[in-house]
Amino acid sequence: MKRLFLIPVIAALASIVGIALVTLLSASGGSKIEATKPEQLGYRGVGMVLNHDPKTQRAQAPLHAIPEPEPPPEIDPANPPILAKDKYLNIQVLTDLNTQEFSRLMQALTVWVSPEEGCAYCHNPKYLASDEKYPKVVARHMLQMTRNINEGWKKHVGNTGVTCYTCHRGQPVPSGDWFEFIGNEKDQLAMLGHRFGQNHPGIETVGNTSLPYDPLTIFLKDKDSPSIRVQGERALAGENRRSVKQSEHTYGLMIYMSQSLGVNCTFCHNTRAAANWEQSSPQRVTAWYGIRMVRDINSTYLHSVGSLLPLYRMNASGDYPKVACATCHKGVGKPLNGISMLNDYPALAVEARLPYAGGPKTYDQVAEVNPFKIENKGKDPKSLESQ
Ligand code: HEC
Ligand code: HEC
Ligand code: HEC
Ligand code: HEC
Repeated sequence: MKRLFLIPVIAALASIVGIALVTLLSASGGSKIEATKPEQLGYRGVGMVLNHDPKTQRAQAPLHAIPEPEPPPEIDPANPPILAKDKYLNIQVLTDLNTQEFSRLMQALTVWVSPEEGCAYCHNPKYLASDEKYPKVVARHMLQMTRNINEGWKKHVGNTGVTCYTCHRGQPVPSGDWFEFIGNEKDQLAMLGHRFGQNHPGIETVGNTSLPYDPLTIFLKDKDSPSIRVQGERALAGENRRSVKQSEHTYGLMIYMSQSLGVNCTFCHNTRAAANWEQSSPQRVTAWYGIRMVRDINSTYLHSVGSLLPLYRMNASGDYPKVACATCHKGVGKPLNGISMLNDYPALAVEARLPYAGGPKTYDQVAEVNPFKIENKGKDPKSLESQ
């Protein structure tokens, strides 16, 4: 009897403790739960909504902050500076800058690409004209590439444009670069045939789905990559050259693009009719040019840069690093949240006045055209600092 009497007492005590705990939790942790902020993108009722998570946005804020620009050059009109190419020994790209603009840009390159290593990441500090460190030779291609993006791809980058910082963010190797995916051994050995990279869940590029894991090599490496389609233009199968495999690659790329921009499909599509341009958002048009721009960057610039990089920058199958949406966007719809750094650095927006034909492509060619001996070919620039 006594024990039975205890049951309601224990139950009452437990509920009091429970209520106290819930109150405590909601007073501390509970109040930190923030609602996502919806933003309507398309017509009402079609579900084109983007959900912003304030907590994630705050956590990522430092990545999207911009370094203080160098103070603008003070030019004395009575005594204008001469062109850098007339003062220095080995200027091949920045032939249009005066000495003040040139020094200011060198400072900025250091902040954007190698703040820890300083000028010595690219230069032999005792002989700045020498091309003995590969990052300097790479930086020439990068300067040319950046100017080409800002001049030639306004349909994607607008007047916001890009600088080295858009990709590099204070690191010699930018985040979001990519390589051809090295296939799984099972791909080749599978008794049921070649799997073309499918059914390997756990690959981040395609959002951990079982879709083919390397849509980037197929769609973004070369200028003549196949078209990114799912639907055929004709009803009859004989005329429809789209395959299930091609569709799966398309969806893989779409997931990669959405992740890179931190958005969902409705940022660009009215998903009841993904192929229909009339029902898509203006962002889809910008993205269409972005795909062409990325192909141009990779085939025109990163391909040549690849042959200048030391082996330890390649992946295990010897493929060179490349650029795609995430290299610039890093999780937001507009890189650096759409703030332009180009106004402070107009030197990166001008088309090079003397065309630079890509420069030497290999170290042997560099040695031929460059008066300075290249002894440190392929060595880690950091290991050369003490020399
Ligand atoms: C990310 C690589 C990089 C960094 C970092 C860098 N430079 Fe340069 N520098 C270059 C490139 C590329 C050139 C050649 C430009 C050309 O050919 O138009 C160059 C050329 C020069 C020259 C001309 C030398 C000559 O006689 O031809 C000077 C001077 C110079 N840099 C100074 C500096 C200083 C000072 C710093 C540090 C504040 C610095 N650079 C940081 C890439 C870099
Ligand atoms: C569109 C993105 C992008 C932009 C813009 C960009 N870079 Fe790069 N850069 C890359 C990629 C990708 C690599 C290859 C990474 C690697 O070396 O492994 C690279 C490599 C380099 C390297 C070689 C680093 C190393 O240690 O291997 C240097 C130096 C460099 N960039 C300088 C610059 C400079 C200077 C600018 C601005 C004039 C610039 N980059 C603009 C994407 C970019
Ligand atoms: C940043 C904009 C953007 C986002 C986000 C995006 N897409 Fe796309 N999508 C495009 C563009 C641009 C094309 C056309 C590519 C081309 O023709 O080169 C396309 C093409 C497609 C096609 C092929 C249509 C056809 O003509 O056959 C499908 C299907 C598709 N997207 C589905 C999706 C899905 C599903 C998602 C979300 C996982 C998504 N997209 C996210 C921009 C986007
Ligand atoms: C070289 C850097 C760079 C690369 C690579 C890049 N973008 Fe962009 N993108 C930009 C810049 C800069 C803007 C902002 C343009 C503006 O302010 O008008 C932008 C804007 C956009 C927008 C418009 C966003 C809006 O809110 O209007 C879309 C969509 C987009 N990019 C998609 C892509 C896709 C998809 C890829 C990969 C296929 C890609 N971008 C690759 C630099 C880049």
